[in-house]
Amino acid sequence: MDGHGRQVCEQEAAAMFEPPSWDKRYSSEEQIWSGNPNAQLVAEVSGLTPGTALDVGCGEGGDVIWLACQGWRVTGADFSASGLARAVRHAEEAGVGDRADWWQVDARTFTAEGRSYDLVTTHFLHPPDGGMVDVTRRLSEAVAGGGHLLVVGHAPSEVFTHLTASHCKAMFHPEDLLPGIPDSFEVLVAEQRPRTVTRDGETLNILDSTLLARRKS
Ligand SMILES: C[S@@+](CC[C@H](N)C(=O)[O-])C[C@H]1O[C@@H](n2cnc3c(N)ncnc32)[C@H](O)[C@@H]1O
Repeated sequence: MDGHGRQVCEQEAAAMFEPPSWDKRYSSEEQIWSGNPNAQLVAEVSGLTPGTALDVGCGEGGDVIWLACQGWRVTGADFSASGLARAVRHAEEAGVGDRADWWQVDARTFTAEGRSYDLVTTHFLHPPDGGMVDVTRRLSEAVAGGGHLLVVGHAPSEVFTHLTASHCKAMFHPEDLLPGIPDSFEVLVAEQRPRTVTRDGETLNILDSTLLARRKS
């Protein structure tokens, strides 16, 4: 189903993994996400010393703004130009526009291009066909020595059985991503963490697949 309870066929579902679908969503709907930082970001990053950060799949910029408020110099990246435009606006409204940069990039073909960051993070990006393993490997290349990689997404759950098969397949367990972590990293966290969300007035119990790894110095 789509966000309006309409049944979606697999062909339409495939289109939902591409930029035009996200551009349309960010252009037509009011603010989609809460603007609050993601729970696992706050849990894992609050104790780190701020430096440079890259948030891939930043959407409307909630995590970018939180990181900037904690003292990080942040690059928000997304493949949706409309999403990025919203994130820019929200960062300016939050008074942190001068601590954020923006990068339109597709995580599926991401290369670090000589850039490196003390923290690379991504939340709920979910490329199709098990693509998160390759995305994890690509993002790891952008982590500086001693820096951290934080990857968070939905674990498969009965809560999501209303979604198409391809959307369900895009969810992952934290250990699914381990083949994407190079030997130069140590894995600090690979856990499914419970969280409650409210959807259409109903409280749902979901699991955040959370992988935190540190590049050895
Ligand atoms: C579910 S939203 C999550 C947004 C934000 N991270 C959050 O947690 O509020 C997924 C975001 O990832 C972006 N996205 C999806 N696939 C992507 C890809 N292959 N490369 C870059 N961005 C992508 C979408 O445009 C969207 O903004």
